[in-house]
Amino acid sequence: MKRIPVIIDCDPGIDDVMALLFAFVRPELDIRLITTEAGNQTQDKTAYNARSFLTYMNQEVEVARGLEQPLFVDLEVAEEVHGENGLGDVIFPEPSFEESNRTAIHALYQTIMTSDEPIVLIATGPLTNIGALLLAHPEVKDNIRSISFMGGAAVGGNMTPTAEFNVYVDPHAADIVFRSGIPIVMSGLDVTHKAFLDEDDLKRIGDIGTELTERLVELMTFYTKAATQTAFHEENYDTNVRLHDLCAVGYVVEPKLFQGDDCYVAIETTSELTRGTTMVDYTQSLPYAKNVHVLHTVDRERFVAMFIDAIQKAEQLIKGGNLHVEKN
Ligand code: BDR
Ligand code: CA
Repeated sequence: MKRIPVIIDCDPGIDDVMALLFAFVRPELDIRLITTEAGNQTQDKTAYNARSFLTYMNQEVEVARGLEQPLFVDLEVAEEVHGENGLGDVIFPEPSFEESNRTAIHALYQTIMTSDEPIVLIATGPLTNIGALLLAHPEVKDNIRSISFMGGAAVGGNMTPTAEFNVYVDPHAADIVFRSGIPIVMSGLDVTHKAFLDEDDLKRIGDIGTELTERLVELMTFYTKAATQTAFHEENYDTNVRLHDLCAVGYVVEPKLFQGDDCYVAIETTSELTRGTTMVDYTQSLPYAKNVHVLHTVDRERFVAMFIDAIQKAEQLIKGGNLHVEKN
């Protein structure tokens, strides 16, 4: 099988580690590098969590530390959703390998420029590292096939009424990326809110009854407790577990599960009220070139089945098996 060379840029983060789990068991992906963002938690914590979770999964891929702060605004973390350690207070093992001695920007630059074929970037956190990379080394664009990004929304936000967390945290970086001309696939809240586990799915996972599924259920329960309560929804209107970041991985391996449209998308960077809003021209009424493939629908049942299958395969990795994944 011809594998897709990918780099994962993430801010683990509960759904980020689930996305890593998903990515590491998929034979289609050749994961060449992981870079970490400050986002759900500080850079110290997300960089640690990436190595710690990889250690748990028996995987070793270079993890390079990204920028400590968004480009022009102060960092706001999502402690209430992801916990003080960024992983819902669930403890994974001490990392068995060191952080890379290359910075994320340096590692991204070298990995992209020396790749024999264009790289797919999977981005599941704020876009600070990728924005900075494009400012420092715009020539990388020629060797990036696409960016599969979890973030933004055509309609409604989760950080503010109109802004999704990853874009809100670093709107200037998102603006650079969205105006770069690189093909972008946006898994925003429009689709990620449809990619969820319901209570029955969660129970099915819990019933597998292994240490991994116990930890996953703990992570997902923590994360869902912080589910949105708004003035319009007095009760916790939704106990579903949203698999946000997994969509960005899922689209790369099984694009047919998703539907979307090409749209013009711009990022609001200046307004205090609507900072980080992705203005998606889903009305197709503005006279600007379409720059983003915006996903809006997913085949939830097949997506959930893929995730449960990934959990079962991850058990084999944890036990020391290497699946069918060839190592480079
Ligand atoms: C996004 O925000 C983060 O908290 C999640 O990890 C995901 O990337 C969802 O809005
Ligand atoms: Ca994330």
